[in-house]
Amino acid sequence: MRGLRPLQRSQGRGRQDAGLTTTPRSLIAATGSYLPERVVTNDDLAAFLDTSDAWIRDRTGIGARHVAADDEVTSDLAAAASRRALEAAGVSAASLDMIVTATVTPDSPMPACAVRLQHKLGAGKVPAFDVSAACAGFLFGLTIADQFIRAGGARRVLVVGVELLSRIIDWSDRTTAVLFGDGAGAVLVERAEPGDPRGIEACRIHSDGSLAAALEIPAGGSAEPATERGLAARRNKVHMLGQDVFRAAVRGMTDVGQEVVAAAGLTLNDVDRFVPHQANLRILQALAERWAVPLERFVLVLDETGNTSSASIPIALDRGLSDGRLCRGQRVLMSALGAGVSYGGVLARL
Ligand code: ACO
Repeated sequence: MRGLRPLQRSQGRGRQDAGLTTTPRSLIAATGSYLPERVVTNDDLAAFLDTSDAWIRDRTGIGARHVAADDEVTSDLAAAASRRALEAAGVSAASLDMIVTATVTPDSPMPACAVRLQHKLGAGKVPAFDVSAACAGFLFGLTIADQFIRAGGARRVLVVGVELLSRIIDWSDRTTAVLFGDGAGAVLVERAEPGDPRGIEACRIHSDGSLAAALEIPAGGSAEPATERGLAARRNKVHMLGQDVFRAAVRGMTDVGQEVVAAAGLTLNDVDRFVPHQANLRILQALAERWAVPLERFVLVLDETGNTSSASIPIALDRGLSDGRLCRGQRVLMSALGAGVSYGGVLARL
């Protein structure tokens, strides 16, 4: 957990310089994260699945994952991470202008997880809504926050990536059960003061619905046939075409990363650290190779968290700022691809 001193709030929009008005920037002012207490190791999984620590480490780079307690719900994880971010910044929930929660595992299909979070934080009647873009959801949320702040519609936005994936995994399916973990990461996005060199420099988000079937929960939505409604079948759990997702992740994250640095008029050589979505170490190795950057410049938490979907980037940001792998002032490239497929990239000076 790491924060900056709270930014002064000033009136007025934009920056007035010799008659010129510049659009205000947004910046990541503070971060927080939460991982449930219970740790499930690969050996724990091998006790009831036909798998092994060696297979999981070799194919994914994952050593363990955190799994929420039975009485924890998604908004609890989100609230714990959010309180840490608010505390790090020294600001109250009442000062928020908006809450965006990125999740595909809300407490219930309706209402949004974000309104439950708003209530738990005591954040007042600010708009609170969910973004459903799976592993790319946090970057979609960050982009929305950035756009609102640039447009003058908000000054302080809480963006949370949170997943309780252990509840939507088929624990008897070794091809998916070993991959995922639970967790939450929160960032406070604020309007930067004029002249502050930090801030979000570019955002790009995309979706390609032609790949929707590569990673989905087939049951439970409005497309479910009437005869199957209410059946607690395996269709109600995550289904994945692993190699299709692998290829799409490498391609999408490579392209959007290059696109977003180009949008800022920069190249990958201008980036200090890479904080990608963390699904699988082999995807990240392929990404580093295609970008021609050393993997050592990636901030990784995958080994101990598994794939936490929308939470993976904000958890890595928070961990990196806490343990010194990330420093304020560094330029960081975040990129992600997830179910949809949806993918995005955000370039920011921390
Ligand atoms: N333990 C042991 N063996 C396993 C396991 C397991 N947990 N899972 C699969 N296998 C077996 C398969 O059954 C298969 O056996 P077979 O040869 O007898 O048929 C063998 O291992 C190879 O299976 P593949 O699916 O070909 O293995 P692959 O090398 O593709 O690795 C994996 C599978 C790890 C899922 C890989 O495809 C992958 O990482 N895909 C990306 C998917 C992903 O990360 N999704 C997360 C959500 S999306 C995102 O976050 C980007």
